[in-house]
Amino acid sequence: MPKRIQFSQTGGPEVLEVVDAAPDEPKEGEVRVKNHAVGLNFIDIYFRTGLYPAPSLPSGLGTEGAGVVDAVGQGVSHLKEGDRVAYALGPLGAYAELHVLPAEKVVKLPEGVAFETAAGCMLKGLTVQYLLRQTYRLQKGETILFHAAAGGVGSIACQWAKAMGVKLIGTVGSKEKAELAKKNGAWATIDYTQENVVERVRELTQGDMVPVVYDSVGKDTWETSLDCLQKRGLMVSFGNASGSVEGVSINILNQKGSLYLTRPSLAGYADSHQRLEQMSGELFEMLESGKLKIDIAQRYPLDKAGEAQAALAERKTTGSTVLLP
Ligand SMILES: NC(=O)c1ccc[n+]([C@@H]2O[C@H](COP(=O)([O-])OP(=O)(O)OC[C@H]3O[C@@H](n4cnc5c(N)ncnc54)[C@H](OP(=O)(O)O)[C@@H]3O)[C@@H](O)[C@H]2O)c1
Repeated sequence: MPKRIQFSQTGGPEVLEVVDAAPDEPKEGEVRVKNHAVGLNFIDIYFRTGLYPAPSLPSGLGTEGAGVVDAVGQGVSHLKEGDRVAYALGPLGAYAELHVLPAEKVVKLPEGVAFETAAGCMLKGLTVQYLLRQTYRLQKGETILFHAAAGGVGSIACQWAKAMGVKLIGTVGSKEKAELAKKNGAWATIDYTQENVVERVRELTQGDMVPVVYDSVGKDTWETSLDCLQKRGLMVSFGNASGSVEGVSINILNQKGSLYLTRPSLAGYADSHQRLEQMSGELFEMLESGKLKIDIAQRYPLDKAGEAQAALAERKTTGSTVLLP
């Protein structure tokens, strides 16, 4: 019987259980994917802990994977059995050998992109695509601040920014992570566990500060991030690794310099099949041109998903992590 990971109550990694699940048949507009690799993301931890509520319990977990189409429901025209595919969004349940999801959330994978690479970058790479190319249309020569630069999203952002000629200042939690971010193309790094981020950004930009800050750390970095912005700069708050930002008065945007604020999500950008195809097309081009390499720094068997999540939450990982069914 195919295995899947599920949780019946929110909590620590111990709530994740491996269960045998009879394969679901795809309904109209759906496909079933036999996963070859599954992506691990911080959002999976938010669902497990209940920060983001799962639609119902017990629930599957995970939204990112790559594999082969194994069954096709009625009315699906762009996919057939045997196609190599990848996905980043859709119903929870990617932590599984088989996953049924709407076909519109699934794209074909170019031959040159391996399953592990795809599982390591569909969600994170598409996120970087919209952050750097849509939320703020970065121009060559601009300097930006990007938090957690040695993580999954961060490692991709360093390379993508470098390819665009953008100077990325990356914050990191250790010397080793600083070296990794530099290797990936960060223009400069700041160890935010040791250094004063605002002062270092002021030094590095010769007092100009930055036009945009990408902040996925959340609670711990919120105010620091605002202080690194130029007047009328854009604060992109896109994650809660340290906890969510709460209790904010909008007057702070005035006090810190007529700032703009956005709280975007991938689901809000890849909100149609056409947009998903466009964004994935750009991501695959980056991979196939060799400008972007995905560092799968951690691999775990699917049934060790709890261990993998604990490592991610404890800041022990770098780059991407995949689960192997
Ligand atoms: N809105 C969206 O569309 C979207 C999409 C994808 C991801 N995200 C967000 O982007 C972030 C990165 O996701 P990821 O999956 O690639 O994870 P990740 O960056 O590989 O891991 C999170 C990193 O955040 C840093 N961090 C700082 N304070 C932390 C704390 N208190 N606890 C844990 N980590 C802390 C750690 O790096 P250091 O040790 O270097 O500080 C850690 O390695 C997450 O916040 C995620 O929710 C948002």
